[in-house]
Amino acid sequence: MKSAKPISVLFVCLGNICRSPAAEGAFLALLAMQDLGHRFRVDSCGTGGWHIGELPHRTTREVARANGIELTHRARQFHPERDFQSFDYILTMDESNYNDVMSLAPNSQDRKKVFLYREFERDESGNPLLGERSVPDPYYGGLEGFQEVQSIVTRAAEGFLEFLKETDQLNS
Ligand code: 4NP
Repeated sequence: MKSAKPISVLFVCLGNICRSPAAEGAFLALLAMQDLGHRFRVDSCGTGGWHIGELPHRTTREVARANGIELTHRARQFHPERDFQSFDYILTMDESNYNDVMSLAPNSQDRKKVFLYREFERDESGNPLLGERSVPDPYYGGLEGFQEVQSIVTRAAEGFLEFLKETDQLNS
């Protein structure tokens, strides 16, 4: 039997050392729990290039590890031409990343791939969370900010996967 083409997902923040690698790790962990890893291609990047080649921020890694997730991603910068061509979903962490990525989209079809990740977050009853639209940048703050990021990206991962199931994108 021919296997379905993987769904490709790119998480984007500013530096690619805090929020988007945390989001990538949380989503991969959720896929592993549901034995769905083989259905996806997942990556992350930053709109900025200051941290290219680096592992995620030490505190991002510590908080992920406390949640059973080992982050080994190396930071890279968003590449408009290549990334729009090769990803189905481009999930941005805040409105600034969203606007930057949207402004680089080659055409209207590509703009449809771009979302604010928190749009997929849901409350305990499964209803969309209306309110905060951005994953707050923890870079200049303390541990609590990194822990909040971990909670947000964990909830958003669940909501995003539910969205894919509800829209029949995993049924082949
Ligand atoms: P991130 O956080 O976008 O969540 O990776 C940041 C990391 C680095 C910088 C800013 C935000 N920086 O200015 O170097």
